[in-house]
Amino acid sequence: MAGAELIGQEEIKEVMDVMRTGVLMRYGFDKERQGVFKVRQFEGEFAEYCGVKHALGVTSGSAALKVALTAMDIGPGDEVLVPAFTFLATYEAVLEVGAIPVMCDIDDTLNFDPNEIEKKMTKYTKAVIPVHMCGSSARIDKIVKIARKNKLMVLEDNAQGCGASFKGKKLGGFGDMGIFSFDYYKTVTTGEGGMVISNNKKLYLRSEWYSDHGHDHNPKVSRALEGRTILGFNYRMNELQGALGLAQLRKLDYIIAEQKKNKAVIKDALAQIPGVGFRTLPDPEGDSATFLAFNLPEEKQALKFQKLLSQGGFDTTCYKSNLWHYVPNWEHFLAFSTANSKKYPFKDKGYKGKVKYSRKSIPFAEDMLGRTLVAGIAVRMSPERLDAICKAIEKAAVGL
Ligand SMILES: Cc1ncc(COP(=O)(O)O)c(C=O)c1O
Repeated sequence: MAGAELIGQEEIKEVMDVMRTGVLMRYGFDKERQGVFKVRQFEGEFAEYCGVKHALGVTSGSAALKVALTAMDIGPGDEVLVPAFTFLATYEAVLEVGAIPVMCDIDDTLNFDPNEIEKKMTKYTKAVIPVHMCGSSARIDKIVKIARKNKLMVLEDNAQGCGASFKGKKLGGFGDMGIFSFDYYKTVTTGEGGMVISNNKKLYLRSEWYSDHGHDHNPKVSRALEGRTILGFNYRMNELQGALGLAQLRKLDYIIAEQKKNKAVIKDALAQIPGVGFRTLPDPEGDSATFLAFNLPEEKQALKFQKLLSQGGFDTTCYKSNLWHYVPNWEHFLAFSTANSKKYPFKDKGYKGKVKYSRKSIPFAEDMLGRTLVAGIAVRMSPERLDAICKAIEKAAVGL
């Protein structure tokens, strides 16, 4: 559960700063807010933490994806390459901007396979969305290199990998843009919330305008008199979220350090079992350790092991059968059932490409996800709990 486990006095203090002024909106009310700008401060500290120039707080990770794709000018007629293993939101966001998501295979990192770019791109492809699933990085250096070579933009979906890095650089800052989620399950939580980051000022400004009805946020005039270039919508983060984010961000390194310790204990126990392998981490140092993914040689064995572990009180997920994180299981998506009766954008005449979402086109995911089990790692795991998990693993191994 990460950040949610640690909500305490620090969050209360930050939230109370806002409550004392009564100004819940991030913009305007300059006199009443008495210098309190929690979202602005959170954005500044988050950008610094990630080592990027710009950060924009928004209402959710899903909104962040949509805002970023819009800023990148992805729209009708365009295709975007997306891994088959991700949360639905990544695909929904592409559809929200009127573009078509093209399903790509994963590799042994369980993330976007860089070799898929040149296999799956067409003349309509505009961007790639590598998703750093379950807290650890894709081969992001290769992905960016191949994307650049083919003049494709890169948007990193780092909703699940806040604080994780690759070779010393925080994830989210490798591509043209990156996004984060702060929903209640995430490593840093603001209840609901998200962040868009970028080093590109133009993309940042377009994001900022779009997320607030086009307002250009000119500090010299009142909100009513601000200029505008593009139309937008409302994806503004509010001050209570900003306050929570500030307190949570200051705990992020501690969260990761604790999760790493807990993960190492469980991983060691699993490593004793013949046949058990682990997800490849391109940079183990940079792992945020929110999850531990391990595999068995065959799917049948993995499912049996999962059952035995569960009987011992240690629950895991097999994502091949998960209804929300694996494209072949999304019956509504496969039926092109977008939330409009015209099935836009799948059936839009402006879209000239052809997409298929067949299991055959993602052979690695079909094999590896079926024999991989994923366990959530908490920040607070008592020695007794870790011991019970290790015992459950030992016992399940006997029954394998
Ligand atoms: C990979 C991924 N992308 C995007 C999102 C969407 O984030 P949110 O729940 O904040 O809308 C999630 C949320 O679980 C996610 O896991």
